[in-house]
Amino acid sequence: MSYIANSDRYSKMDLRRCGNSGVRLPLLSLGLWHNFGGVDDVQEYRKMAIHAFDSGIFHFDLANNYGPPPGSAEENFGSILKDDLKGYRDELIISTKAGFDMWEGPYGEWGSRKYLLASLDQSLKRMGLDYVDIFYSHRYDPDTPLEETMGALASAVNHGKALYVGISNYPPEETTQAINILNKLGTPCLIHQQKYNMLHREPEEGLYDVLESKKVGSIVYSALAQGILTSKYIGGIPQDSRASRESGFLTKDELTDDVISKAQKLNWLAQDRGQSLAQTALVWCLRDPNITSVIIGPRNMKQLEDNIRSLGNLDFSDQELEEIERILNT
Ligand SMILES: NC(=O)c1ccc[n+]([C@@H]2O[C@H](COP(=O)([O-])OP(=O)(O)OC[C@H]3O[C@@H](n4cnc5c(N)ncnc54)[C@H](OP(=O)(O)O)[C@@H]3O)[C@@H](O)[C@H]2O)c1
Repeated sequence: MSYIANSDRYSKMDLRRCGNSGVRLPLLSLGLWHNFGGVDDVQEYRKMAIHAFDSGIFHFDLANNYGPPPGSAEENFGSILKDDLKGYRDELIISTKAGFDMWEGPYGEWGSRKYLLASLDQSLKRMGLDYVDIFYSHRYDPDTPLEETMGALASAVNHGKALYVGISNYPPEETTQAINILNKLGTPCLIHQQKYNMLHREPEEGLYDVLESKKVGSIVYSALAQGILTSKYIGGIPQDSRASRESGFLTKDELTDDVISKAQKLNWLAQDRGQSLAQTALVWCLRDPNITSVIIGPRNMKQLEDNIRSLGNLDFSDQELEEIERILNT
């Protein structure tokens, strides 16, 4: 039987405007970096995508290299679209990116026009789409003129293959330059995607000022520090966790005594708020109204449901915020 979306879905999650654009995003977006690849459980990730949409999450974040193997998350998402979500295409904000290593040779990564536009064509084919909603340059390329990289993003829009463009992992100064170039090209930068969480505060050192002053949206990834900001590592490394999988993205070396002790204290604080640590860590990122959305990366339905329930308590008292800073700074 074909899928019919929950008719209540838009009453379930607040939206925030993305910079000064016409785009509004749900407070939580669903990321497909891990858990949606060729090695993952097809039943589980299908359920997650559908449950997310039924819960008001209509933004799905992908990249050319998501898997593993690279490209398989886009293929799998394409199949979910074809089987279930296709009738809802005009409600979805689907993003993809190019920048990291994807195929051999000099045009398989970084920021050349040749790589970005070839990669976008490949992504569209894998997902079975005519266009994506947001096409990102996934990282700043110091060896390619920014004019070329931004020109490629603008071409993607001019060719009807993307509706909006974004940049990810760009430092503050290069972000300013990229935004200025895109404005000149008549294709404004919609959004910047950056790593931000309680343990990683770098965007506060300049990037967030740039985005606020330029009125560009801001979407956060790794809000749970890939799982460190949950209670899972407090008693050791669970068997099915990201750190145990040794994919190279979250290494056991990162789970230092200091970090685990902070997670333990933050977990007590979260419990006092009536939340899991994962929930508190997610909504902590949303305390700044300039953050448009947080991209969640759940591995299963239980985690997805836990993440969504975080929106039940978005408020922090001054005392709680001070206590979080105290824990992080000890
Ligand atoms: N632009 C970029 O360069 C970039 C980089 C990274 C990510 N992203 C985007 O951001 C998305 C999220 O990134 P991320 O995966 O690093 O996010 P994250 O939320 O920091 O980490 C996700 C991991 O946290 C654990 N987790 C999630 N919810 C949990 C819960 N309720 N309870 C216990 N554990 C929970 C799971 O780990 P276990 O598997 O151990 O259970 C899950 O795999 C990606 O899918 C991608 O779309 C973008």
